[in-house]
Amino acid sequence: MADSPAAASDAPSSTAPSSWSPDSWRTRHAAQQPDWPDADRLDHVLKTLAGYPPLVFAGEARELTRQLGRVANGEAFLLQAGDCAESFESFSANSIRERLKIILQMAIVLTYSAGVPTVKVGRIAGQFAKPRSEGTETVDGVSLPSFRGHMVNDVEFSESARHPDPERLIEAYHQSAATLNLLRAFTKGGFADLTRVHLWTQEFVAASPEAQRYESLAREIDRALRFIRATGIDPDQVPSLHEVDVYTSHEALILGYEEALTRQDSLTGQYYDCSAHMVWIGERTRGLDDAHVEFFRGIANPIGCKVSTKATPEDTVALCETLNPDRIPGRMTLISRMGAEHVRDHLPTLVRAVRDAGHPVVWACDPMHGNTYTSSNGRKTRHFDAILDELRGFFEVHRAEGTWPGGVHIELTGDDVTECLGGAEDLVDDDLALRYETMCDPRLNGRQSLDLAFGVAELLRG
Ligand code: PEP
Ligand code: CO
Repeated sequence: MADSPAAASDAPSSTAPSSWSPDSWRTRHAAQQPDWPDADRLDHVLKTLAGYPPLVFAGEARELTRQLGRVANGEAFLLQAGDCAESFESFSANSIRERLKIILQMAIVLTYSAGVPTVKVGRIAGQFAKPRSEGTETVDGVSLPSFRGHMVNDVEFSESARHPDPERLIEAYHQSAATLNLLRAFTKGGFADLTRVHLWTQEFVAASPEAQRYESLAREIDRALRFIRATGIDPDQVPSLHEVDVYTSHEALILGYEEALTRQDSLTGQYYDCSAHMVWIGERTRGLDDAHVEFFRGIANPIGCKVSTKATPEDTVALCETLNPDRIPGRMTLISRMGAEHVRDHLPTLVRAVRDAGHPVVWACDPMHGNTYTSSNGRKTRHFDAILDELRGFFEVHRAEGTWPGGVHIELTGDDVTECLGGAEDLVDDDLALRYETMCDPRLNGRQSLDLAFGVAELLRG
């Protein structure tokens, strides 16, 4: 694998960085990896995966880098959204369609109300692994391995469920493939046609004030399409009105899996992690000398890295230098997740350092992970107002620094769950028990997500 072909003279920086190979991360400290009990079984699974077809193509990942390059230049906005953790159990056409619908609706709100093209990236078709603050969980004196996502083990608190099982990597691959297949069908096969913009509303959202606001926007789009037709342009002949690009992304946590799906692109000689178009490094695994940064350094996909209040300006610039030494716009997205209370104090120093170092990053805001707390009834939750306030702070900082607030990174579901507080329905602590379905972090429901999109559109216009 290390024998990459020599670069053709006209090819863009054609091979992986020197001394990198898809398995060079193995010489480094790899945080947050499961304690797989059976090394031979794991090895066999990884060899099987390495023989399977790639889930995405290098050319698609390159196109996403190009589109994110426009975001880095302040010409487009990134909407990255989806599940905290996808589930092997709630896997159905319905759940995929509902998640896609809400992403499409949010993108319409952002594009139409703010007049900025929206690059759509799902936390979907591979978001199966979770980093945990504690390696074990103790209930009534019994300690078991923590739940690490369906790619590793199961959420139920029992010895057998929590046992890391490498066969789950194969299942994650197949579920990702089926999810991606349906996403491709929905986005290219007529479902995402702009003339169907009215039909994307979920039933439970339909009667709400946010949906009515959305409906009036959809009617304006209809009018605009009629106007275009009246001028003699046939909208049927404009492909971009009938198809959308929705890209896939996940936290590339389990490095054996990601290595097994890494392939060398025959066109450019570069290596791509073909498990998703975009992959990101989590807040807990971004150590500069650690295995995740080493792996990400050599793949040519567009990549993200989370940064919390623990990140210093030096750390952040060093990550950019290591992960994007050629300063390719769109290659690197920094996803800040500081919490509403800290974003205004902490983010400016990072933004200035990266700007002054001349790194063309996409700055995105994850307003979810810094605003999580345990409610009085013991459930992990987030308040809609804190989420919106972190976004407001993020926009304020970028406006003050003269940089582009490039995007948002949201945990949501199309379903009618009650996991986050507040929003138009003003969900309160007692409502959490009604439909609290997440396996990991609390997600915005369809109404809250749409509401948030209108809020972000206002920030973008402001
Ligand atoms: C996540 O995005 O689900 C996550 C675990 O985020 P972070 O790495 O920022 O904590
Ligand atoms: Co999460």
